[in-house]
Amino acid sequence: MTSFPKDFVWGAATSGPQTEGNFHKPHQNVFDYWFATAPEQFDAGVGPDLASNFYNDYEHDLDLMQQAGIQGLRTSIQWTRLIDDFETASLNPDGVAYYNRVIDAMLARGIEPYLNLHHFDLPVALYDQYGGWESKHVVDLFVKFAEQCFKLYGDRVKKWFTFNEPKVVVDGQYLYGWHYPQVVDGPKAVQVAYNLNLASAKTVAAFRQLCPQTDHQIGIILNLTPAYAASDDPADQAAAEFAELWSNNLFLDPAVLGHFPTKLVDRLTTDGVIWESTPAELALIAANPVDVLGVNYYHPFRVQRPDISPTSLQPWLPDIYFKDYAMPGRVMNVDRGWEIYPTALTDIAKNIQENYHNIPWFISENGMGVAHEERFLDRQGVVQDDYRIDFMRAHLNALAAGIAAGSNCQGYFVWTAIDCWSWNHAYHNRYGLIRDEIHTQTKTLKKSAAWFKQLSDTNQFED
Ligand code: BG6
Repeated sequence: MTSFPKDFVWGAATSGPQTEGNFHKPHQNVFDYWFATAPEQFDAGVGPDLASNFYNDYEHDLDLMQQAGIQGLRTSIQWTRLIDDFETASLNPDGVAYYNRVIDAMLARGIEPYLNLHHFDLPVALYDQYGGWESKHVVDLFVKFAEQCFKLYGDRVKKWFTFNEPKVVVDGQYLYGWHYPQVVDGPKAVQVAYNLNLASAKTVAAFRQLCPQTDHQIGIILNLTPAYAASDDPADQAAAEFAELWSNNLFLDPAVLGHFPTKLVDRLTTDGVIWESTPAELALIAANPVDVLGVNYYHPFRVQRPDISPTSLQPWLPDIYFKDYAMPGRVMNVDRGWEIYPTALTDIAKNIQENYHNIPWFISENGMGVAHEERFLDRQGVVQDDYRIDFMRAHLNALAAGIAAGSNCQGYFVWTAIDCWSWNHAYHNRYGLIRDEIHTQTKTLKKSAAWFKQLSDTNQFED
């Protein structure tokens, strides 16, 4: 038997743009715009317009989540739905009423809302006008939006998050072309990373003013990908050290410790690409660490030395210091192309305990995306997703080892409750405990939902 602490929270995570559908939404985010202009870049040409129809179907969806034992739901408020005018942060009444209904429906079912304010969904107008997260003006507009959220819903919502995976905004929009506007520009990516850290800290500061209740908390959600070196060779070790700084410490350190990692700042300064900051901004970051950390974990980062040593003639990109390493024998989720390595969760737990003053944290996403799950439907129409149960069991065992060693992990939120639309892959890979038959919009519990319910009821599972 593997058991978890008494008040451990069993939840699920999702996001507004991936579930709601675009009904009555006054503005486009970058993905809405990208889909409208280049639908061929999305799996099967499927965009976010309908998603899982949560906007209309939330009562029924929340009933299903309750049946799956979900005690907390991490989702997001869409900037493009709540706000009418981004400069003044004036409100869209339909958006205000919608999130009120959803929050009340969650609370009525005993599902605690964990609300996140940004899940890759920058309003496209703010990219067009200001260059999006390249601009500190956009940082201030985001804080205005956040303030509206705290004022409107802070009476009922106690758990808040500034950003989901800000590192993916940097990677997706500014380095690797996964997300619109598909810019590839290392120095801009560095400034965007700084601006996102600043936006998070300013939002924390606003929260302290508007939600001073002692049972209210604010955090950030980071995708932590521990960097493991390909070998003991000093060149591989150095590559892994930089990868760790760039991929993890870049957001973890300012959010929890209040300052950027010195080694990274030194490197970026030497390379002439350090961000533009002011002493007042750095003081604000130092004064506003988060209360709680959400950790999204899917896969580790295997790293080796780059093929050629960095030279000043190359355009600056973080990848001049490291290269992916396809470790022979690693276990893969072939459909998603991600390595499955549960042990990293024990390492993450230890790292947070030892280096981040054992801050309260929880798994804010972990899950397995599988293609063509109709293959696993039984005669009763239930997906027999034993692979997903095995995946969760292995990760929970690794997490339990970290908790037994003293790490302050307080919950596990699976990605996701109901199969949802995904950024680049639309509905190709399914992650839900609940199947969404998108053509008929029928939603049914998978085998993993029954397993999760049992886990949530008993706080333990059989190995
Ligand atoms: C996380 C994101 O990175 O991974 C989610 O926060 C995303 O929004 C999830 O859906 C799974 O990744 P993907 O690309 O397979 O949907």
